[in-house]
Amino acid sequence: MSYGPAPEGDAIVRAWLAGHSNRFGHYIGGAFTHPVADQSFEVHDPSTGALLAHVAQGSAQDVDAAVAAARAALPAWQALDDHARARWMYAIARGIQKHARHFAVLESIDNGKPIRETRDIDIPLVARHFSYHAGWAQLLSAEFPGQHAYGVVGQVIPWNFPLLMLAWKVAPALAAGNTVVLKPAEFTPLTALRFAELMQEIGLPPGVFNLVTGDGRTGAAIVDHPDVDKIAFTGSTEVGRAIRVATAGSGKGLSLELGGKSPFVVFEDADLDSVVEGVVDAIWFNQGQVCCAGSRLLVQEGVADQLIAKLRDRMERLRIGSPLDKTVDMGAIVAPVQLARIKQLCAQGVEEGATCWQPSWATPAEGSFHPPTLFTNVAPSATIAQVEIFGPVLVSMTFRTPEEAVALANNTPFGLAASVWSENINLALDIAPKLKSGVVWINSTNLFDAGAGFGGYRESGFGREGGREGLGEYLKPVRSHEPAPSPVDAGAEPVVHAASDNAADTALTTSTLPAMDRTPKLFIGGKQARSDSGYSRRVLGAHGRVVGEVGDGNRKDVRNAVEAAHAGAGWSKLSGHQRSQILFYIAENLSARELEFAARLSAMTGASHLDATREVEASISRLFTYGAWADKHDGAVHDVPLRGVALAMHEPIGVVGVACPDPYPLLGLVSLIAPLLATGNRVVVVPSERYPLSATDFYSVLETSDVPAGVVNIVTGPRDALAKVLAEHDDVDALWYVGSRAGATAVEKASAANLKRTWTEWDGREWLDPRVGEGREFLRRAVQVKNIWIPYGE
Ligand code: NAI
Repeated sequence: MSYGPAPEGDAIVRAWLAGHSNRFGHYIGGAFTHPVADQSFEVHDPSTGALLAHVAQGSAQDVDAAVAAARAALPAWQALDDHARARWMYAIARGIQKHARHFAVLESIDNGKPIRETRDIDIPLVARHFSYHAGWAQLLSAEFPGQHAYGVVGQVIPWNFPLLMLAWKVAPALAAGNTVVLKPAEFTPLTALRFAELMQEIGLPPGVFNLVTGDGRTGAAIVDHPDVDKIAFTGSTEVGRAIRVATAGSGKGLSLELGGKSPFVVFEDADLDSVVEGVVDAIWFNQGQVCCAGSRLLVQEGVADQLIAKLRDRMERLRIGSPLDKTVDMGAIVAPVQLARIKQLCAQGVEEGATCWQPSWATPAEGSFHPPTLFTNVAPSATIAQVEIFGPVLVSMTFRTPEEAVALANNTPFGLAASVWSENINLALDIAPKLKSGVVWINSTNLFDAGAGFGGYRESGFGREGGREGLGEYLKPVRSHEPAPSPVDAGAEPVVHAASDNAADTALTTSTLPAMDRTPKLFIGGKQARSDSGYSRRVLGAHGRVVGEVGDGNRKDVRNAVEAAHAGAGWSKLSGHQRSQILFYIAENLSARELEFAARLSAMTGASHLDATREVEASISRLFTYGAWADKHDGAVHDVPLRGVALAMHEPIGVVGVACPDPYPLLGLVSLIAPLLATGNRVVVVPSERYPLSATDFYSVLETSDVPAGVVNIVTGPRDALAKVLAEHDDVDALWYVGSRAGATAVEKASAANLKRTWTEWDGREWLDPRVGEGREFLRRAVQVKNIWIPYGE
């Protein structure tokens, strides 16, 4: 069976280009400059050679203006509180998601990479980076005390993952409180320009993100600018070296992510069919234009012939063609000059005596295409075995023993990544620590995530991107003589906030009319359920007035809720990232109804409008905190007295009962359930007995926030009686109780039968204060640790 073409539509993106008359200026201080005809360069579609756009060539004056705008924006951006900055980062992530296909199509047209990759890898990872760093922004003060942002950061990025490299750079820089001047690569500036437009659309404060387009001269002007505090660069080792020299002694911070010649080591006991697919991902992903591409195939002698035969067979079946065709494996090389460089290196390989093999099919006649290429009989010292080709060219060599494999793998000045293939875990884990590279993938390749640091050893550069350590690259310690930035009123709130106003106004004005009879129910298994008892309880407001009624839950309701929570076990298997997205989404939907929730709190508790609003805002921030933690509450690697390590993994406890306090009926509930949800538990909640309406309002927020059925179950009613039922229940794995001393005592006694973990409190906490209302204490109690011991190494 053969595939027909399946082109992705590009009409919207072409219309967007035409809407700009195919001409773009820089984005400085929140506005686009007017492009000037004789100070611009052309951008082409690498798959056809067609002209896509004219883009401004940044001059020293443009860089000056961008740096000045970034400097001017810095004080207000740095002084925002953590939550406000997190909201901006989140707004960026959301914006990317909303326009994901636009970005994907534009990236494919501009860079030549297949739409399958931009759609399924590049753009989702871009959004992931911004939402992951929204999390770090939220946790910044708590997790990085005594540190602050560099200031104005200059960032220069390459063309191989244009928008993803932007995200790797911009997300941590902004999250840490820096402002940015970024230069995209001259071959691929279009998604960065669309990104700048998105920043304008969401209303990011002017000057926080600035974009200056241009070639290496513009990059050098940013690097040399005296008012830039740190440079972050990804690109060739040669330019990286030049930047090291240019910034030496300037006091500027510097991180460099440079080239690689990564080994892909295959032992004879490896699963060769998996290896073949691994090679496809290692060297033909993005046409091999990947800094960590597995470009050196090192195979144990006994299986070399067999693997090469399988590989050739697979190469024969790879498809190359229009990047917008959803069925192609490979698209175009970014530019004719890069294609020429790849061809020249291949010719050199042949001259030096290696055997070149390419599939029998022809590459498209027009555009910059290069077939997948395999070299065998390669000497370890040959140019093609040493130099980064940055194209779809694999060089293979053989080895006999593991020691020889390590020696060959390390026979390069680079040290970015490595991949090891063996069905023998002992062997794989013996080899991994001996490889000189920043990343080692075992039986896998080219895996990336915002939560895991990426970066190289030796000539592959220094500094890490992603993870906690990646954020650390954009922070430096506060010197004692420096004043700490004072918090300012978060006047520059994301525009996403504005949407809440109308709904809230309506809620306030209609509250003067006779209430519609809307009886809140219990919330079990994702559905609103009437209480089994058939009774309702009155909820009295501050002045003794009836403000509502809720179901009077009983033992049967608790049993149903526990059953539903067990059925929701899929929650524990979601990734931290997925859980974090949902927690952010709950916060977003609560924020849209902020005034309504505040009005409800005032009506129940008599709290002033200001205090009630504060409670709702703290609840939103708290949800953000745990959205932030969901993909960061990592386990640890312990240095145990053994040749090897012990991996301490955090596991959710399972189904946790939660009984909530009366003070702060909304914030108390959120503060207790959010850490449990972030860590993968499911909950059965008994909300405040006296003020339960915030909880019953809250389930309608959960219903609109993609929370799977059974993850949160709410049973209103007599708190202590219901908590005791939960404590006695064999299928409840832990119980958190905040209430009275008598209630706590009863719960602890009842839990003795099955020795479930309990956490009880009766003194009351100042939930508004993040130092006591959130953080590691809650996370620690929400998980159990499993240690996995892995012997390896010498
Ligand atoms: P390059 O290193 O010249 O370009 C990367 C970025 O640096 C671009 O934005 C460019 O405009 C800018 N730049 C160039 N000269 C500069 C200077 N003196 N100061 C500041 N910025 C400067 O890479 P190029 O020429 O596009 O590709 C050449 C080779 O570099 C590739 O064949 C590949 O081997 C390697 N490369 C490696 C990358 C990686 O991710 N490790 C990415 C791109 C290229």
